[in-house]
Amino acid sequence: MEIDETLRRQRVEKAAAVYSPLLLSVYDLWVYKVAAPRFFRCPLRIFQHFYEQNVSRHHLDVGVGSGILLRHCRQKNLLDQVALLDLNPNCLDATEQALQPLKVRKYCADILQPLPIANEQFTSVGLNFLLHCVPGSFREKGVAFTFLKQLLAPGGVLFGSTVLYQPGLANAPARWLMNRYNAGGVFNNRQDTQEDLQVVLGNLFENVEMSLEGCVLFFRASDAALD
Ligand SMILES: C[S@@+](CC[C@H](N)C(=O)[O-])C[C@H]1O[C@@H](n2cnc3c(N)ncnc32)[C@H](O)[C@@H]1O
Repeated sequence: MEIDETLRRQRVEKAAAVYSPLLLSVYDLWVYKVAAPRFFRCPLRIFQHFYEQNVSRHHLDVGVGSGILLRHCRQKNLLDQVALLDLNPNCLDATEQALQPLKVRKYCADILQPLPIANEQFTSVGLNFLLHCVPGSFREKGVAFTFLKQLLAPGGVLFGSTVLYQPGLANAPARWLMNRYNAGGVFNNRQDTQEDLQVVLGNLFENVEMSLEGCVLFFRASDAALD
């Protein structure tokens, strides 16, 4: 049992450790100009529009990467108070840099563990392109939603996107790329299904909405009505 837990932790850490400063310097180009539009069939403008619609003035972003989508929101003047949470300090620093002169609060933490944020609630929590990195099925890694929900203000919205490996959604080139990422431990999405995510979010929130673009699943959840 203890060996399983050690291996699980190693897999979680490996999936986040890949984001070195060098990789982050080419992240936007590779992910949003090549991988997302060409392999996953979802262009950058769809992610930007989704963020614009769901981000709000007191926002927590989780699994921040290079901060590309938050930077877009800052340029549109949609952000006021922002907190960043990530297991990899390189990502926290790169995103802080990308958002300057906006001041941010940074938390270095694993979404699968109780989170180190007390006495603060957010009107929106975003987790974009994060869940497909995290080991376990949605029913296992969905524990993150329990921790994140505790940080949502009443009526707040949790939203995000994740890449699905599911046959029928991911085509041959997408599965080819994801096979490599899964083998390298960068992705962990072979067990992920839209149905499981619907169940996990539905157990926690009154309202859940999902939509697909290519093999990217977008989700929103709230106890308030979703407009
Ligand atoms: C693929 S990047 C996504 C970056 C960004 N949100 C985007 O939309 O492009 C995944 C991010 O999640 C972080 N991450 C991976 N596993 C994590 C975990 N268990 N807890 C917190 N952050 C994690 C990584 O360090 C990285 O910043």
